[in-house]
Amino acid sequence: MGTPGSLISAMKKSGQPRDPVADWAWKVITCPSCHESLKHESSKLYCSDCGPVGYLEDGIFRFPAFRVDASIRWYQDKGGAHFYERSRVPYAMSALDTPVYHRFLAKLRPPNLAESIVVDVGAGDGRNTAPWLAWGFKRVVAVDAVCASLARFRQRIRRQHPAWLDRILMVECDARQIPLSSAQADIVIAIESLYYLNEDYPRGLAECVRIMKPNGRIFLAERSWEGALLARLLYSGVGAMLSIAKSRDMWDGGMQDSVRSRCFTETELIAMLRGRGLEPLEVKGIPLLPLILGYLRSQGSLKRGDGKLLGRLGHLLQDLGEHGQMRRTYAVVAAKASARVRARQ
Ligand SMILES: C[S@@+](CC[C@H](N)C(=O)[O-])C[C@H]1O[C@@H](n2cnc3c(N)ncnc32)[C@H](O)[C@@H]1O
Ligand SMILES: [Zn+2]
Repeated sequence: MGTPGSLISAMKKSGQPRDPVADWAWKVITCPSCHESLKHESSKLYCSDCGPVGYLEDGIFRFPAFRVDASIRWYQDKGGAHFYERSRVPYAMSALDTPVYHRFLAKLRPPNLAESIVVDVGAGDGRNTAPWLAWGFKRVVAVDAVCASLARFRQRIRRQHPAWLDRILMVECDARQIPLSSAQADIVIAIESLYYLNEDYPRGLAECVRIMKPNGRIFLAERSWEGALLARLLYSGVGAMLSIAKSRDMWDGGMQDSVRSRCFTETELIAMLRGRGLEPLEVKGIPLLPLILGYLRSQGSLKRGDGKLLGRLGHLLQDLGEHGQMRRTYAVVAAKASARVRARQ
């Protein structure tokens, strides 16, 4: 495959970033602190006000000067999120959840494939970023605090779809300080990522709102309180479930290796979004069933022949995602409230 004409730098020489960076990416990426545009010299990234702020490595924009909290450390220790890989394992929770998410995302597609900017905040290894590339979007941004998962995603693209490389911008940064220009994104998605910010959740959400175009859309997936209680019960027992009953804390992982995140009731989540200038347009969700089925799988309790039922099960889960009430995560589509008010006037 030849180098696409839109690329300004095919920097494969030693000391230079290995992957080319597309022109459009330089227009979107900014300084994480002051949001001035960036210049680069070899692989170093400079802000005219703040000086050196990051570097480019193997095609990934890295801004590592953020505070590594317990959630980020937890994911770093695991080599980043592995949700794409889990989504390939029959009856694993992610394998059942992922098609439901993809169907929700498909409905959000803006018509302009060439210019629409789609940003995935807390993209992990790209299970929900890749569909946008497959649908033909040419400006897709994957943001995550853990570089290892972005690097695996990039490897996969290099191997399987090298033509996508000039359509994806990967950024290692904190969701509380996203180095992207304001009001540029047509679609922002943050799927099961912002809840790891815990008390800083409003800061991450405010950053997502900042980068949205006035008429943009955001798709958020956040854990439901009851889903968190059930997960805790199944994997850690009654006592563990009761220990979080009076809070909105959730703990993932085992006793020695756990990480705290937060969950919401639907009312709390909607109030949070409204408080940050968003108007929810649709509330859907990931059903509870994949959590239960994933648990049954882990216990070896599925029946021989259940593999053959995956197609029918998929249809049921789509239906429940749209119309069910027992939700592991709430999936909310929202617009900027100011844009809705303007549209009504
Ligand atoms: C449950 S995974 C979800 C990954 C992806 N959204 C998906 O649906 O497959 C959570 C992701 O949030 C990322 N994350 C956690 N804290 C973050 C932060 N402060 N800033 C950016 N990403 C963060 C983790 O590294 C991880 O990739
Ligand atoms: Zn700056």
